Amino acid sequence: MITLITNIKELLQVREVHVNKVSGKSMAVLPTIKNAYLIIKDDLIFDFGEIKNMPSLKADKTMDANNKIVLPTWCDSHTHIVYAGNREGEFVDRINGLTYEEIANNGGGIINSAKKLQETSEDDLFDQASKRIEEIMALGTGAVEIKSGYGLTFEAEIKMLRVIKKLAINYPIEIKSTFLGAHAFPAEFKDNKEAYIDLICDKMIPAVADENLAEFIDVFCETDYFTVAQTERILKTGKKYNLIPKIHVNQFTSIGGVQIGIKYKALSLDHLEIMQPIDIEALKNSNTMPVALPSCSYFLSIPYTPAREIIDQDLPLALATDFNPGSTPSGNMNFVVATACIKMKMTPEEAINAATINGAYAMNLSTTHGSITKGKKANLIITKEIPSYNYIPYAFGSNLIDIVMINGKIIDTV
Ligand code: NIG
Ligand code: FE
Repeated sequence: MITLITNIKELLQVREVHVNKVSGKSMAVLPTIKNAYLIIKDDLIFDFGEIKNMPSLKADKTMDANNKIVLPTWCDSHTHIVYAGNREGEFVDRINGLTYEEIANNGGGIINSAKKLQETSEDDLFDQASKRIEEIMALGTGAVEIKSGYGLTFEAEIKMLRVIKKLAINYPIEIKSTFLGAHAFPAEFKDNKEAYIDLICDKMIPAVADENLAEFIDVFCETDYFTVAQTERILKTGKKYNLIPKIHVNQFTSIGGVQIGIKYKALSLDHLEIMQPIDIEALKNSNTMPVALPSCSYFLSIPYTPAREIIDQDLPLALATDFNPGSTPSGNMNFVVATACIKMKMTPEEAINAATINGAYAMNLSTTHGSITKGKKANLIITKEIPSYNYIPYAFGSNLIDIVMINGKIIDTV
């Protein structure tokens, strides 16, 4: 099946196959082709170039882009999309003056979501998460990572991971799975935290690996959550089972999470709102992708990840949503890109690179996703009529997406 897209005003993020991420000054460059065509063969990008060089070929289907912009779909490398119910009560509590920490200490927060999830059936969870997957696909996301971590018992963590697996089978969007048993301490382990680490290391991780339920392992390494030593134990055990670290660090405090992540060759280190110079230094000379989650900062009114300091130190940066019921009840990557420009002073080129090729890298997908490259997945956003790609973050409250294609097929964007 050959599909030809003609009359593309500008084709964004055109890359050679060897580019797996962009760092530092290169992030300010977004390679494009103006007045372009693109040919899709089955689910893959087959060819593209300037219209004036378009080969004559017999396509099964021809689409006129009507002078609109085409870019690769967003790669959202950090989400918690499988959850039960919502936490809008806590949202109102925060408006009335309670902090995120105070809510968590009163039995709200992650523990609140875990209680709800434990009581929800696998089928119900699947249905709730399906709606979110359908929503993010319509918002232009073509690849997503999903974490466990709202189960916090052996059974509930496995249940969450099975739901993620089922979503991956049932939806065309690429889904990567992360085991986050170390998201919070269940109440019954409050006075015996090491026993929960034992449960994670001795029972959960082996079962996750045995059933092939996750590729990555995550820990919420943070004051009042998991210490650096506990994080290290979990990453070490994960390594034995070939689980690659992608960890939550430096959301509220800088306690050495970055350094332990680098030591265990984390694929990505996520959040990074509170960064000391030694944390930025540690990221240098590593292959680890720093990941910023600006809609979490927006929703919780906490500092934004210092993108300028990171990029100006010649490091790469990816952007993701953190879609979850507590700190970011939104999976909108368009809003993330806009917020990165508006609040983190990233240029539109940097933000688009961070949300596509670098996001793909942060979930081990940059050989198949994240750019317009021959042989990569035909995952495309066709925008509405907009004057330039700067308009995408500029008009932050508008839906600028006309068509989303995943694996070469148009998906419903109602
Ligand atoms: O990434 N920080 C840890 N976990 C989530 C929030 C979890 C929640 O509040 O439910 C996050 O922000
Ligand atoms: Fe998160």
